[in-house]
Amino acid sequence: MNFLLLIGFLVLISTWWVDGGMGAFTDLMVDLTLVKSAISKGAVCLDGTPPGYHIQRGHGSGANNWLVDLEGGGWCNDKWSCMYRTTTALGSSKHMDKIFFPAILSNRSEENPDFYNWNRVRVRYCDGASFAGEGYYKESGLYFRGRRIWSAVMEELMGLGMSSAQQALLSGCSAGGVASVLHCDNFKALFRPQTKVKCLVDAGLFLDYVDVSGQRGLRSLFDGVVTFQGVAQNLPERCTSRMNASLCFFPENLLNGIKTPMFLLNTAYDTWQIENSLAPVSAVKDGPWKFCRLNYTKCDSSQIEFLQGFRKRMTTVAESFYQSKATNGLFINSCFTHGQSVLPGTWHGKNYPSITNKGIAQSVGDWYFNRSKVKLIDCPYPCDTTCHNYVS
Ligand SMILES: *[C@@H]1O[C@H](CO)[C@@H](O)[C@H](O)[C@H]1NC(C)=O
Ligand SMILES: *[C@@H]1O[C@H](CO)[C@@H](O)[C@H](O)[C@H]1NC(C)=O
Ligand SMILES: *[C@@H]1O[C@H](CO)[C@@H](O)[C@H](O)[C@H]1NC(C)=O
Ligand SMILES: *[C@@H]1O[C@H](CO)[C@@H](O)[C@H](O)[C@H]1NC(C)=O
Repeated sequence: MNFLLLIGFLVLISTWWVDGGMGAFTDLMVDLTLVKSAISKGAVCLDGTPPGYHIQRGHGSGANNWLVDLEGGGWCNDKWSCMYRTTTALGSSKHMDKIFFPAILSNRSEENPDFYNWNRVRVRYCDGASFAGEGYYKESGLYFRGRRIWSAVMEELMGLGMSSAQQALLSGCSAGGVASVLHCDNFKALFRPQTKVKCLVDAGLFLDYVDVSGQRGLRSLFDGVVTFQGVAQNLPERCTSRMNASLCFFPENLLNGIKTPMFLLNTAYDTWQIENSLAPVSAVKDGPWKFCRLNYTKCDSSQIEFLQGFRKRMTTVAESFYQSKATNGLFINSCFTHGQSVLPGTWHGKNYPSITNKGIAQSVGDWYFNRSKVKLIDCPYPCDTTCHNYVS
């Protein structure tokens, strides 16, 4: 299963290439900075190598503002899946290289109207537990130091001037979205009280939902991550005192206790969740979901009905999150994809996805800068004609 999770992530990236999305941004490759000093703090990737990040400095009116984006890319929940990661950039900085800065990380105002001139940072993800693990697996020499990586990289950024930021935004997509939920209040706590701090969670609303075979596959995946990587001690006590720590890795069980303003951006038919949680290979086998799980146009009406049930649950969770704090924002569109802040086509630009004519970059900007309240929940599939749907 975990091999597939990783592959799903790589496919997403490669589709983006094929899409031609990369072509226009070839000028914006950003070098990797390794945090060598992190090694003495035990803040290391799964294989013991130093963690890394990429930064492009801000200028003009953005010179004192900071966007910190946490990279995503699934999780590892056992020896095999974590060992596998050490052969990739998701587990070892030996395999990391420079990267593109598209969408919310872009320095072009046409592509990223509100944050293009901010200091923009992407923190690389090499711990496999959404920057929240703490432990060491002696038998395989695996380090689980996600939380320490978080602290070491933040300390480095504070030293580069983030400590005097006027405005800051923590963002993250997928497993990085979960990390944004887990670290949002920690991020806020780094700054002076007068700094405006908010958090964006993109495609991070992984729901604890019963799959097509009646199982809860994501529960066992998250239980593996939390147990194997020693995550429980880094989860909020307000949750772990109420329920099994593994359930406290689900954002839905954490959202209402977060004090910092937060924005949830998610599709109601999140394709990662459809493929890996609602209709995982283990539950589907050769049954009727075999094709529908990879291509929504192959779903019959009862399967669409099932997906509408998932959307209902997603909008209910989102609604309760929105009501819990006046400073929260929401954009839940009825599209089939996963992650919309890190891809050029969906964040902004030509024919971007929208709800009532409002796109994602504009919605996040309106919410961040208090230009208006943002609560956008789309009508159910198939009414939205602005989607960039993803098909495996
Ligand atoms: C974006 O950054 C790249 C790399 O530093 C630079 O070459 C390019 O001119 C910048 N683009 C804009 C619009 O500032
Ligand atoms: C927590 O939940 C997981 C997954 O549902 C289960 O395997 C585990 O036994 C539970 N742990 C406790 C302490 O109840
Ligand atoms: C998805 O399904 C539709 C309709 O069955 C088909 O036309 C299309 O080629 C499929 N896409 C992929 C990528 O398989
Ligand atoms: C932004 O809006 C929130 C909630 O509506 C309010 O609490 C806050 O004071 C506003 N901030 C500014 C700078 O207007």
